[in-house]
Amino acid sequence: ILPLLYALVLGYLCGSIPFGLILTRAAGLGDIRAIGSGNIGATNVLRTGNKGLAAGTLVLDALKAVIPVLLARHFWGEDAARVAALGAFLGHCFPVWLGFKGGKGVAVMIGSLLALNWIVGLIFCAVWLLIAFTRKISSLAALTAAATAPIFAYVLGSERLALVVTGLALLLFFQHRENIARLIKGTEPSIGGGRKAA
Ligand code: G3P
Repeated sequence: ILPLLYALVLGYLCGSIPFGLILTRAAGLGDIRAIGSGNIGATNVLRTGNKGLAAGTLVLDALKAVIPVLLARHFWGEDAARVAALGAFLGHCFPVWLGFKGGKGVAVMIGSLLALNWIVGLIFCAVWLLIAFTRKISSLAALTAAATAPIFAYVLGSERLALVVTGLALLLFFQHRENIARLIKGTEPSIGGGRKAA
């Protein structure tokens, strides 16, 4: 049980690094939490108009899941790798450094899936891209990809992977509760479109 605890803490510490906030601050754009949806993720960084920073946020937020998952697998095995993914997700969504108010977990879920089972990860990306390009709404793309991911994890991976992926998907839905309310009302903005902080 101790290795699982190490994996959880390692994942949490990596996941809690708010790259969106750090990059936008370093670029002199101010506090990302005062822009658009107020989220610290790549979609909201894109609302600053800086595509490079948005791409950087996406990649770094994914890597902060990939690295602890690979490390945990190397040192403590596959169950620890799955727990590290969960830790990274919790760290990103509830970072102690930001008063437990973090992001929504899309990039972290991509990183986790790629590191846990790269085929399931690529399918997640494909579903995200399909919906993003056809419907042009980032949250809808993420919610659709997350909703289908447990099925692919079960079919292409294992029961345990599916269990972890279901946990990640449920958390992702919880973090998107405001987006879901806007999607139902039809007021969710399209990708790249600006929105005032609520
Ligand atoms: O990456 C999170 C995305 O699904 C929604 O972000 O800023 O539109 O709430 P946002």
